[in-house]
Amino acid sequence: MPLPKAELHLHIEGTLEPELAFALAVRNGVELPYADTDALRAAYRFEDLQSFLDLYYELMTVLRTEQDFEDLANAYLARAAAQGVRHAEIFFDPQAHLARGVGMGTVVEGLWRALGKSEQNHGVSTQLILCFLRDESAESALGTLRAAEPYLDRITGVGLDSAEVGHPPAKFRRVYEAAAALGLRRVAHAGEEGPPEYIAEALDVLGVERIDHGLRCLEDPALVERLVRERVPLTLCPLSNVRLRTVDTLADHPLPAMLDAGLLCTVNSDDPAYFGGYAGDNFDAVRDTLGLTEERLRELARNSFLASFLEHDEERRAR
Ligand code: ADE
Ligand code: ZN
Repeated sequence: MPLPKAELHLHIEGTLEPELAFALAVRNGVELPYADTDALRAAYRFEDLQSFLDLYYELMTVLRTEQDFEDLANAYLARAAAQGVRHAEIFFDPQAHLARGVGMGTVVEGLWRALGKSEQNHGVSTQLILCFLRDESAESALGTLRAAEPYLDRITGVGLDSAEVGHPPAKFRRVYEAAAALGLRRVAHAGEEGPPEYIAEALDVLGVERIDHGLRCLEDPALVERLVRERVPLTLCPLSNVRLRTVDTLADHPLPAMLDAGLLCTVNSDDPAYFGGYAGDNFDAVRDTLGLTEERLRELARNSFLASFLEHDEERRAR
């Protein structure tokens, strides 16, 4: 029986497996520049975040209809459930779809067709987090939030993803203020490839409740001390870090040191179709390669529920 856990860092577009990508390409008459699934998988050799993002945005062009988004989400939820995920807070990237003429309603309602029945069908509760693409303009982010307003009953919070370096959190101050005014929860990617200053800025300027990745906090001991003191959850993604070369090998991953330092770490899959594993695979990998004890694994699972938007709402708001 896999350890029950919550997944807090998961891009739904990053769950698009090659087989489903080809099936949707056929269904929608989209031409993919790969001969077959093997040729596509062979392209999954990334130098850095940007080289991954190039393929990620290319492949998601097969997603066109509500049915596509429903199928994508159901495929993820079935795999996640089999690996012990009981609750998933799921990112989506509407700007990448709006730019192709796929409307906010198609994306949100399509995902909701799966998410709305997920507890029943998969035993997984879910929440949706709308991410702004940080390499797009602040105005585009504001327009995206406006486009999402009719669907806010389906959306728990906002996040910030895509190419990090050169796009500091402060660029998105206004849209995060607007999101807070709408009662949305706030998270942001920071310190994946970007410097530790982005982590502090995400907390101070955007008012985020969790940091996605946050790995580079280790370069600033005072920041680590603050993250420990304020119990700021970090949603780490070990297999992603290896594939995107933010760590050299999994054996070099600082997760054990981060736990020893008292950081509130969680383990997640990020873009599992691209990085070699879902949530349970990430847990297995850190157990096997980093020698984490069963007690440490249980701590990670406990942290995932603690850091979720499901529980301890009162405690977190009071912080
Ligand atoms: N979008 C999808 N996966 C991402 C990641 N790991 N970092 C930033 N943006 C992303
Ligand atoms: Zn991510």
